[in-house]
Amino acid sequence: MQQSALAPADAHGTATNLRDYRHDILAGLTAPQKQLAPKYLYDSRGSELFDEICSLPEYYATRTELAVLRTNAAEIAALVGPSADVVELGAGSSLKARLLLDGLDRPASYQPVDISATYLLAQAAEVAAAYPSVTVRPVLADFTRPFTLPSAIASQRTLLFFPGSTIGNLSRPRAAALLSSLACRTPGGALLIGVDICKDAAVLRAAYNDSRGVTAEFNLNLLVRLNRELGATFDVDAFEHDAVYDPLHDRVEMRLVSQRDQTVTVAGVAVDFGKGEYIITEHSHKYAPQEFAAMAIGEGWRSIRCWLADDRFSVHYFRAPDGAA
Ligand SMILES: C[S@@+](CC[C@H](N)C(=O)[O-])C[C@H]1O[C@@H](n2cnc3c(N)ncnc32)[C@H](O)[C@@H]1O
Repeated sequence: MQQSALAPADAHGTATNLRDYRHDILAGLTAPQKQLAPKYLYDSRGSELFDEICSLPEYYATRTELAVLRTNAAEIAALVGPSADVVELGAGSSLKARLLLDGLDRPASYQPVDISATYLLAQAAEVAAAYPSVTVRPVLADFTRPFTLPSAIASQRTLLFFPGSTIGNLSRPRAAALLSSLACRTPGGALLIGVDICKDAAVLRAAYNDSRGVTAEFNLNLLVRLNRELGATFDVDAFEHDAVYDPLHDRVEMRLVSQRDQTVTVAGVAVDFGKGEYIITEHSHKYAPQEFAAMAIGEGWRSIRCWLADDRFSVHYFRAPDGAA
């Protein structure tokens, strides 16, 4: 497995080293508004729970994005061309990548990049077994930190695949900065990216507060993880999941809300919570398709195509500056 020198794997099984991890968590929990980066939701259990979320009736995003990829597979394959090197950012289960690989003309390689080490290796092994003609190279890395973007293997064209609206977990300025850095590092390449669209608040609230409580378990698993990995003393039953839509920033905010006044020790540091006080664990920014395209164009990408599914989800295809038309 390829690893970024700046983001080695650690005992806790992600691409962030233990010192950075501990520092990030303590900085987040001692800030005036407690906030933890969404990447920490993804240990092995978090990755499994996210997959369960993807098949929930309320979670429209996976269904609609899969439908776009399936319906437009031939057009996507024609745009990408033969022998592409496919690099997936935030690969998760690789379900969408399989659909993509099925449609492409003799893809040369599939290089899934993810922060969730054990899950990444397991999914990559399954893809390798299912696609013997494709070189599969998992890359354990945190794409919010400097990392070595996998290089083309077939030296035809690198296709960056970034589905699931994972880019929406970054603030707008950070999303723009990542798009800029990807454009600079993928000359002649392309970007196929799934982005969730602004929509009715009730639909969004239901999608992030599902009736079976899977999203709640996914969110609360972060506390289980901190107890296990940083010796934290969270009473998981004393926190509740909530997700609210913030129309001002066009984003869903996921929270863990303290149900009482309490003090929790995290890596030896005491952290006080008042009743009702919450930790922000994820933002999911929503974009109008034109807004997202304008942002990517501003960061050096050329917009080639945008497919929409029921005005619920967008999939954009961009080319890097010196790519062929
Ligand atoms: C919203 S899920 C999307 C999964 C899958 N691509 C999909 O479309 O269903 C986000 C994925 O990105 C990974 N991830 C989140 N933050 C990351 C980061 N900073 N660096 C690398 N991978 C990250 C998670 O482990 C997870 O697999």
